[in-house]
Amino acid sequence: MKEKNRTEARKRLEAAKLGGGEARIERQHGAGKLTARERVAVLLDEGTFQELDALVTHRCSDFGMEKRRVPGDGVVTGWGEIDGRRVFLFSQDFTVEGGSLSATNAAKICKVMDMALKAGTPLIGLNDSGGARIQEGVASLGGYADIFLRNTLASGVIPQLSAILGPCAGGAVYSPALTDFIFMAEGTSYMFVTGPNVVKTVTHEEVTQEQLGGASTHATRSGVSHFRCQDDRHCLEEMRKLLSYLPSNNLESPPESPCTDPIDRADAELAMIVPESRGKPYDMHDVLRRVADQDSLMEVQPDFARNMITTFARMDGKPVGIVANQPSVLAGCLDIHASVKAARFVRFLDCFNIPIITFVDVPGFLPGTDQEWNGIISHGAKLLYAYCEATVPKLTVITRKAYGGAYDVMSSKHIRGDLNLAWPSAEIAVMGAPGAVEILFRKEIADSDNPEEVAAAHASEYEELFANPFTAAERGYIDAVIEEPETRRRLIEGLRLLAGKRDHNPPKKHGNIPL
Ligand code: HXC
Repeated sequence: MKEKNRTEARKRLEAAKLGGGEARIERQHGAGKLTARERVAVLLDEGTFQELDALVTHRCSDFGMEKRRVPGDGVVTGWGEIDGRRVFLFSQDFTVEGGSLSATNAAKICKVMDMALKAGTPLIGLNDSGGARIQEGVASLGGYADIFLRNTLASGVIPQLSAILGPCAGGAVYSPALTDFIFMAEGTSYMFVTGPNVVKTVTHEEVTQEQLGGASTHATRSGVSHFRCQDDRHCLEEMRKLLSYLPSNNLESPPESPCTDPIDRADAELAMIVPESRGKPYDMHDVLRRVADQDSLMEVQPDFARNMITTFARMDGKPVGIVANQPSVLAGCLDIHASVKAARFVRFLDCFNIPIITFVDVPGFLPGTDQEWNGIISHGAKLLYAYCEATVPKLTVITRKAYGGAYDVMSSKHIRGDLNLAWPSAEIAVMGAPGAVEILFRKEIADSDNPEEVAAAHASEYEELFANPFTAAERGYIDAVIEEPETRRRLIEGLRLLAGKRDHNPPKKHGNIPL
């Protein structure tokens, strides 16, 4: 009996490994995709995968489904290690019923989600699915809802990462959307709530899958995805890399790496980056690359709302999140997309004990009817709320402009900034000189015989008074005016000082962020 069962177990495991069979595996490869199991092998450290529920089958008997039972039922689940740290995962197998979600299949996913939450371990979802298993009807929809609930309960407790490696349509998009980061493979993945055919029927728009919800669309237009990758393999490698910045759960500190970059490395070039002319742009990436540990940046949403940079980095081997205005795009103005992008990043960092460093060069909020009518007030308030609420160490460097409400928003001292530094080129004021002079001296300028001269005189008086860091420094709104090359050392010393920071918000069920 024992031998018979041993043989049967092997046979079933073999069947599970083969999924939908050779022909469908070939089709998967032909489409430029890896199989569910190949993906797991690339994602995890070699030999660490421990599978769960490989022999589970669906229980549907409608539409002849009783004759279509494959052990594992179209999703591979279990745990393994990435750089020696445990993760739980599920990997949908498109070769079995198009990776569609059956009730059984959902239960397998929920099992690893529950285990990940209990164990305080990241959860990784590799999505490649035709959506709800049509033959199972509402049982499948219920399965999705079970997953959504768990995504939500796990949010802020364990990091949740999603890769989209094939179709992801209908309500199925909402599980990835509830997770922390979405990776998409270029050319083979798409996400949309309703596909091109429905779009055509309802709005008469002709659009391809790729245009509607491909990796480029979500990386540049919608901001739904955070990392656009060349293919499956690149996606999985990037997921491994991202995890190297993240703790396993909200009670742990992020992992440290050895650092060979001297902490007191003073980069003289930093003093040359901000141009003499305050209207001239420069690339904030140049600043970040010179301040952070060598080659340690991992940018999030690099092609969306490019007027705001959000990036992971390391300082002295310790992960930080950097939020920075980008003066070379829209002059670094805060607009709706930039505010939401940065707000979500700040909240993620705060969930997972990752210090926030903010680099400020912002002329204010972007004016215009488009912004006002689409709710810049509420969206800008999200960023304000996120910074106000964050209790992780918050360090700020003002490189040039910190004007108006944007000065307050960008991790100012007033909203619990811990260490606020300014370069000598900093200008901290209600607005730039031309705007201020226009408002304050409009009548005098209009009545004057030489309006340009009068305006210029007032502008230079205003600049003398406000286009510098000293008024703010005199009030203690910034803690120090520093030489640019010292920035790295000063920030690392600040991070060390704040390593044991404890700060709390008043007890509450949860706040009411202006969503
Ligand atoms: C059952 C499915 C399936 C599904 C695909 N298959 N989707 N089986 N339920 N949802 C099966 C196909 O019958 C086929 O089986 C195999 O998977 C591969 O599918 P193909 O169509 O041959 O592949 P391809 O040409 O690459 O097209 C992939 C696809 C297409 C674009 C995903 O299959 C498709 O449009 N599927 C339906 C998508 C959909 O409408 N899903 C429901 C969304 S609503 P055989 O045996 O022939 O190989 C939803 C609600 C969720 O998900 C709500 C949550 C709140």
